[in-house]
Amino acid sequence: MEPGAEGAEPEALLATGREAAAVAAAAAALAGSPAAAAAAAEGGGGGGAAAAAAAAPSAEDMGERGQGAGAVGPPTHQPRRRAAGGPGPRQQPPSPEPNLRSARQGAGDGAGPPDGRADFRCHKLQDSLLSSASGYSNYRGILNWCVVMLVLSNARLFLENLIKYGILVDPIQVISLFLKDPYSWPSLCLVIGSNVFILAALHIEKRLAVGALSERSGTVLHTLNLLTILCFPAWVVLAVTSITPVGAVLALGIHTILFLKLFSFKDVNRWCREKRQAKAVRTRSGSGPQKANGDVASSGVSYPANLNCKDMYYFVFAPTLCYELNFPRSPRIRKRFLLRRLFEMLFFLQLMVGLIQQWMVPTIQNSMKTFRDMDYSRIIERLLKLAVPNHLIWLLFFYWFFHSTLNVMAEILQFGDREFYRDWWNSESVTYFWQNWNIPVHKWCLRHFYKPMIKWGVGKWTAQVAVFLVSAFFHEYLVSVPLKMFRPWAFMGMAAQIPLAWFVGRFLRGNYGNAAVWISLMIGQPVAVLMYVHDYYVLNYEGSQ
Ligand SMILES: CC(C)(COP(=O)(O)OP(=O)(O)OC[C@H]1O[C@@H](n2cnc3c(N)ncnc32)[C@H](O)[C@@H]1OP(=O)(O)O)[C@@H](O)C(=O)NCCC(=O)NCCS
Repeated sequence: MEPGAEGAEPEALLATGREAAAVAAAAAALAGSPAAAAAAAEGGGGGGAAAAAAAAPSAEDMGERGQGAGAVGPPTHQPRRRAAGGPGPRQQPPSPEPNLRSARQGAGDGAGPPDGRADFRCHKLQDSLLSSASGYSNYRGILNWCVVMLVLSNARLFLENLIKYGILVDPIQVISLFLKDPYSWPSLCLVIGSNVFILAALHIEKRLAVGALSERSGTVLHTLNLLTILCFPAWVVLAVTSITPVGAVLALGIHTILFLKLFSFKDVNRWCREKRQAKAVRTRSGSGPQKANGDVASSGVSYPANLNCKDMYYFVFAPTLCYELNFPRSPRIRKRFLLRRLFEMLFFLQLMVGLIQQWMVPTIQNSMKTFRDMDYSRIIERLLKLAVPNHLIWLLFFYWFFHSTLNVMAEILQFGDREFYRDWWNSESVTYFWQNWNIPVHKWCLRHFYKPMIKWGVGKWTAQVAVFLVSAFFHEYLVSVPLKMFRPWAFMGMAAQIPLAWFVGRFLRGNYGNAAVWISLMIGQPVAVLMYVHDYYVLNYEGSQ
């Protein structure tokens, strides 16, 4: 029973005359017995109180239901009731009538029973809610307040933006981001051409599986294939003038994904061959388990039966970068789930494009003069202004890509492993953030780069630095080549994660660490965006003026 319920019974029983009747009526009404309430109110005195007490459930009952007792007994604060499974704020009983209040005051003043059963104390040793010693942690209302404040302040920004610039959203303009010349589709040609690399990798593996190629030759051919995946599209982007930066990012992004997938494909098939060889040696030497009818039949495909176009293309389209012979599969396609994710995909894509056109582009354009004048206080003001839409769009991108898009692909392919992200938003360290925000990339880094390096005897710290440097290279590749402008900002941004991870891990803990991760995300990205846009603007527009 809760403390509030404890105090209820003595007070209701011991109040006298009209006040006691009112107390009893209120108790009965709260217990859901209007008839008893009426009787109690009319009867007055002890009789009425007794009638109500008989009709109403016991104080324990009321305490269990979490109702009523609070109105009659000493007040308890709401969060504790909620924590104990009590009702939310909307289920609070109505405030007591004035005479009921005076009854309670009377009881509190010592006008209670003479038999000493009652506990008249209304104070106890306790901390204020907001002091950390109180152990109070239910900040749901504060969170709602934050959301309301966020909506209100952004509504003001939204209106201000509309008044200042009018409507800038233009879906047709998006097409021009992909196409410069309607008769030339270089990005699409690159994407279609990437099938050559997929089929080459499959062919090399088939030859390796039957022993027509030595391991060394296989490694050389795979390396050439993988290098070409990265170099060929980069060369096309740099050479072809009709390719747009956005189209180029898309083509290079797809080639980077293919690079990581085919790297994994090569590694896993090599591991399969090594396993097959080790098994053959064991069988020949007689040390392995002998089976009259070969291996125990497994339900999935086994090496080298996996080397066919169907399995290969399943992997190419599956939302993972790590190859497996038998992926976990979901039992069926859930149509409602798929439709919801599809709707989100389309809606958030539109929203992101709209926000970029309406909010980011004018802010960036307005920042150019400040950058030229090198007015540092204005630069910081512009940076902070850009941080808000940039961060919002980044969050939308996260949901759009990691939740909606990858789930659409997974649902269509019945790909079972849907862990595309973990709770990176709770990161209290930069390390935790990188372990949890992009699971496909993190899994690939661990499986095909970090752990093999550690196995070769490289130190853990060196291996981590190497992973971040490779990641920095790919970030730079995806920005510098499409912009046809070599600046190290993306590389430096990614490489800076190493000292940042050290600093946050060493000096900041808990909420401070979490805040540091958020600040680095909110400020770091717009710095890089402004750097690139400024340099691109200076290179392409100012030079030509
Ligand atoms: C570098 C990186 C891979 C390090 O990952 P991490 O999880 O912090 O590394 P840890 O040292 O904690 O170890 C990870 C694994 O290696 C294993 N490991 C670590 N040291 C080991 C050792 N000496 N011997 C054997 N195994 C070891 C751990 O047991 C762990 O295994 P598990 O995954 O099976 O649990 C990670 O930070 C990363 O992915 N960074 C790049 C992310 C990135 O660029 N993303 C781009 C997104 S756009």
